[in-house]
Amino acid sequence: MRIVVLVSGTGSNLQAVIDAVQRGALPVEIAAVGSDRPGTYGIERSAAAGLETFVVDFSAFDSRADWDAELLRVVQSYQPDYVVSSGFMRIVGPEFIAAYPQRYLNTHPALLPSFPGAHGVRDALAYGVKVTGCTIMWADAGVDTGPIIAQQAVKVSDHDDEASLHERIKVAERELLLETLAHLASAQDRLTQDGSAQDGGDGLRGES
Ligand code: GRF
Repeated sequence: MRIVVLVSGTGSNLQAVIDAVQRGALPVEIAAVGSDRPGTYGIERSAAAGLETFVVDFSAFDSRADWDAELLRVVQSYQPDYVVSSGFMRIVGPEFIAAYPQRYLNTHPALLPSFPGAHGVRDALAYGVKVTGCTIMWADAGVDTGPIIAQQAVKVSDHDDEASLHERIKVAERELLLETLAHLASAQDRLTQDGSAQDGGDGLRGES
């Protein structure tokens, strides 16, 4: 199973995927890691791991449509089975979503549909919830609105600030992301062996 991973930041969740692939615990090939801006640690650590990297710099394009089209062109050139948004902080356009229906995985540091958007951890803390968590979902055209694949709860402590809570959520997020990718890889493997693609190939529809 080939994946392209998109990052905008430090890529610590991506590092968990790289580590699992490198120790042979995840039967996935990371075809490339891409970013929407230059200078991210996510790209730096991917290059250090010997992975192919690319940047489609959002600020270098005159329009969002042009950026979208270039991002799609570059991602498609790697022929991934799945695209993984791992802290990729841009909404992609409808053509991208249409090119990867239930093939574009996203992670979010809150229990959707609560606290969508760029500040899921901060918003959950500000609301005063006692339990939050993380969500893995299929990306659609909205902001964190796609079908949910898996969720994990994380308790909020009275002493938490945004950073400490986010760090604990990311531990759960990494586990869930690895589990989800492993599940997708084995579903894909079964389909390849069967030669049948009755469920559209994701092997996850209807499961949580
Ligand atoms: C994750 O919590 C992800 O859900 C959110 O940004 C964080 C990415 O962290 N959108 P990192 O770049 O993997 O360290």
